[in-house]
Amino acid sequence: MGKDKLKKWAENETFPNVHQPPLHDVIKHGLTYMKGEWREKVFHNDNPIVLELGCGKGEYTVGLARRFPNKNFIGIDVKGHRFHKGAKEALQENLTNVAFLRTRIEFIEAYFGTNEVDEIWLTFSDPQPLDYEGNRRITSPWYLEKYRKFLKPGALIHIKHDNPGVYEKALQELPAAGCTLETHSFDVYGEYYHQQTPEMQDILNIRTFYEQMWMKENRIIKYVRVRT
Ligand SMILES: C[S@@+](CC[C@H](N)C(=O)[O-])C[C@H]1O[C@@H](n2cnc3c(N)ncnc32)[C@H](O)[C@@H]1O
Repeated sequence: MGKDKLKKWAENETFPNVHQPPLHDVIKHGLTYMKGEWREKVFHNDNPIVLELGCGKGEYTVGLARRFPNKNFIGIDVKGHRFHKGAKEALQENLTNVAFLRTRIEFIEAYFGTNEVDEIWLTFSDPQPLDYEGNRRITSPWYLEKYRKFLKPGALIHIKHDNPGVYEKALQELPAAGCTLETHSFDVYGEYYHQQTPEMQDILNIRTFYEQMWMKENRIIKYVRVRT
């Protein structure tokens, strides 16, 4: 085990914005955690809640939280040493509208109640090209059904990705599953970018760790936004 990972895990334990309830309790005993209670018990306000699923280091979680102090942001990932960076930055900047949750997204219904969440960002999720059932690709209709259990009607889902397969599947599958396609681009920093408002350009310009890596390889970044 790398010393750096151990140090980050230990620090995460001391961070008040990091939530890591035992996954075993959820899987084996069907327990829930903060379900329906994030506004009251964690954020202490009635503001909208936005999730970043598979958040890695949490660039969107923290980047959006800086821009939208009147919304609450929760980054979710199974790898705590990754979101340690976002959690630490949020604490250093006193961003009280940020939390991180360590769990597996398969069990996400244990953490959020009906109509609790307003928006989801899926940033450079693992593409899982051989996942024909869709039960590993978190942009799939299989996951959409889970998300619908806690999303408000008409909530937005944003997908940012480099992988053409993920982009094309989202364009086909999500409208077929009843979502309205709001906008999409095969090349988000091309002509599409210049047609966006300055506010949207600023949001699209948040670059995650994986995005920066793929851009160095000259991969084209794609964007899809649906309303559920
Ligand atoms: C390719 S990385 C992208 C990370 C980040 N969004 C970015 O763009 O830099 C995918 C992330 O999803 C997380 N992940 C994959 N499957 C997951 C699951 N089932 N539950 C929770 N996190 C998961 C991984 O740990 C990883 O941090």
